[in-house]
Amino acid sequence: MYYKPLKDNKKTLAVAPMMDWTDRHCRYFHRGLTRHALLYTEMVTADAVIHGDRARLLGFGEDEHPLALQLGGSDPQKLTEAARIGADFGYDEINLNVGCPSDRVQSGTFGACLMLQPQQVAACLAAMKSAVSLPVTVKCRIGVDDQDPEVALDNFADAVVDAGADAIWVHARKAWLHGLSPKDNRSVPPLDYGRVYRLKQRLPDQFVGINGGIASLDEAEAHLARADGAMIGRAAYQNPEILADIDRRFYDETAGTAGIVGAVERMIPYAEDICRNGGRAAAVTRHMIGLFQGRPGARRWRQILTVESARPGAGAEVIATALQAVEAAGGLAVSPASEGSQAA
Ligand SMILES: Cc1cc2nc3c(=O)[nH]c(=O)nc-3n(C[C@H](O)[C@H](O)[C@H](O)COP(=O)(O)O)c2cc1C
Repeated sequence: MYYKPLKDNKKTLAVAPMMDWTDRHCRYFHRGLTRHALLYTEMVTADAVIHGDRARLLGFGEDEHPLALQLGGSDPQKLTEAARIGADFGYDEINLNVGCPSDRVQSGTFGACLMLQPQQVAACLAAMKSAVSLPVTVKCRIGVDDQDPEVALDNFADAVVDAGADAIWVHARKAWLHGLSPKDNRSVPPLDYGRVYRLKQRLPDQFVGINGGIASLDEAEAHLARADGAMIGRAAYQNPEILADIDRRFYDETAGTAGIVGAVERMIPYAEDICRNGGRAAAVTRHMIGLFQGRPGARRWRQILTVESARPGAGAEVIATALQAVEAAGGLAVSPASEGSQAA
């Protein structure tokens, strides 16, 4: 089941789609930390899905479920074809990106600039919905440029709800389409959680999830009191240990994931397999560098994974070596100093 209900109600915790970050290796790692959080792919354009190397762009392992494919595009026909292909690959959800502000994306007329064209987005979603039986969802901003978010987000949401969107994930800040890099567009426009809560109040029957600046599970829980889902991006990637508490805390699951050490050990045979098939250990270990943040040995962990993994011929043994270094430093015996801290 896709939106696996949290303990007492139907809510969802998700790890955000992040280009260059939430690739297959990253998702395999995250899945070792949480069985239930909804994971998202990086954005893949509809054109790439249709014309590109599908096995490379869309392939994933069975144990990555539940997994949503995020598409970029604005052409209903192409998106429909891409959604169909995604469904055939076995994804659990198809999500449309209406939040990315990069120039490359704008020139293709998709991403955040589609906040200016709610009817076009609605046409895309309706077409995708008619082609696949999966949930079709959208991830958007509260507005762009000089739009008034009070008006723009309601107009946008009404259009996509009419089109049948199964979930609206809102990154709770505007995107500024000119003059800000994509990176700055994730921190400079101010967060406005209240705007997303008001959308949820106005649409009580619609799944509305919130994203942006959520740094801890305490914060996620506070959002879940006022929205249907909480999506964590950078904090999950940079400090993946926070994912390890999700199943127990939100899904009432005591069995299952084997904690952070188990999640690391699970990566060793995985990386061996990748290396055996011509891949590089560093492609896997780069996603693990943020683990153990705040624990003794964290710096050594980062060093070993960064430097040793990059050596020619480096293999999965790097992971075991780095884990031993954390253990030797006493990092496995204690709780992290605090979420987000940078202790050695
Ligand atoms: C490296 C990076 C790549 C991103 N790529 C995407 C993407 O492909 N699609 C998307 O919808 N958002 C993308 N985002 C935005 C995140 O999904 C999220 O909305 C944003 O980082 C705010 O959440 P956070 O504060 O929890 O990180 C990206 C963010 C980062 C940091």
